[in-house]
Amino acid sequence: MENLVVHGTYFTSQNANKVESHENYLICIDQSGTINRTVAPSDKEYSKLLESARKQERLIYLKPNQYILPGFIDLHVHAPQWPQAGLALDLPLADWLNHYTFPLEAKFSDLDYAHRVYRDFVHELLSQGTTTALMFGTIHNNANLELAQQSIAQGLRAFVGQVVMDNPEQTPDYYRNQSTTTALQDTEKFIQSIFDLRRQTTSTIMPVITPRFVPSCTDEALSGLGQLARQYDLPVQSHLSESNWEHGYAIKRFGIHDTSVMERFHLLTKRSVMAHGTQLTDSDLELLRQRGTSIAHCPISNIYFGNGVLPVKKLLIHGNQVGLGSDISGGYSPSLYHNIRQAVKSSQMLTDGVDSSKPTEKRGVRGSRITMATAFYLATVGGAKALRLKTGEIAPGYQADFQIVNGHRSLMKLSRMDVFQRLMYQTEQQDIHSVYVAGKEVYRRE
Ligand code: GUN
Ligand code: FE
Repeated sequence: MENLVVHGTYFTSQNANKVESHENYLICIDQSGTINRTVAPSDKEYSKLLESARKQERLIYLKPNQYILPGFIDLHVHAPQWPQAGLALDLPLADWLNHYTFPLEAKFSDLDYAHRVYRDFVHELLSQGTTTALMFGTIHNNANLELAQQSIAQGLRAFVGQVVMDNPEQTPDYYRNQSTTTALQDTEKFIQSIFDLRRQTTSTIMPVITPRFVPSCTDEALSGLGQLARQYDLPVQSHLSESNWEHGYAIKRFGIHDTSVMERFHLLTKRSVMAHGTQLTDSDLELLRQRGTSIAHCPISNIYFGNGVLPVKKLLIHGNQVGLGSDISGGYSPSLYHNIRQAVKSSQMLTDGVDSSKPTEKRGVRGSRITMATAFYLATVGGAKALRLKTGEIAPGYQADFQIVNGHRSLMKLSRMDVFQRLMYQTEQQDIHSVYVAGKEVYRRE
């Protein structure tokens, strides 16, 4: 039985290369917040469904310039770095962490500060059309619980990680787990607290095993986290071969690539999401594919720290699973629209190359360009697959996680796919009219 009916035109991914659009459809949503059917204007039940929803005030009827899109999935984001977004992007990764990021994250020992930042950040994500987020917290148990509680209170579909960073050689005294034992204990305590929260609410919030990245963690911590991931069957998140320095670090310490280190400690599972991967080799990619581990493409952040462009097209052809991440605050924008655009632009630059003193044919990596349809796929279906969620699509059986967006005025006649392109290139926060998670309104622009 329908609880809510949305009347309008929607766009949803058909596959990594194709977007579908459906005009003036009814999207019928049941009590549990699942889309139970989509009804075409030609369907004989259409008028009856529309009328009864209208009479019972269960109808959302879009204006002619409004469109429905699936809610976006931010597959890699650091919630505590929100105060620093758009700042401090002048140093390479290791220096950026030590000079700016670790001092900022250390402040989350103060629960009032955590409350203020996390309340604002969760609202910000929703207001940008993001309905699901895979987030790093900090090493602080209570602050991470605050992030979980804000996500539940505001209706974000959240995955939250208690960060582990216990290696004294790569972390400062003021921001490090007290010991490997406490790092693992805090992770387990956090898992239990989130399970308690799930029992007390109807939330689907999920704890995530979160080794910050190989350099920050001791062997014992990586090993313990691999065990916890298996014991509780939980998602894992980390950074992987993010930059030249980071990729080289694993080789120096272990004599193998980052990816093989993660494999050694049982951290590559089909519920693992590894961010960046700009320096991954073909054999790394093959191992990730075999394990069903996903890669979070963070195109804005990679400009600053990546020392290269992730060849998304190649990964998709190879069968790697890929989604999209804002990587606040390595990336400066929480908007996945902005990241979608950068994904397309970076792929164009990878194709053409950047050094015009080289002959054209030697400059770039041919065939690397991705289309807007592919970038949209990453932000919706790619993320949902990585998190093993039935969301990211407007289709029966999927969670009703969607955004209603105001299109810009046009002086040209636009085809349906022109409208899609415009939405992807031009939508800003102020164009997002409202956002729904599991059929419930979680944001409306005042
Ligand atoms: N590597 C380890 N920690 C971080 C972080 O906070 N952001 C990014 N971009 N890379 C990291
Ligand atoms: Fe990151």
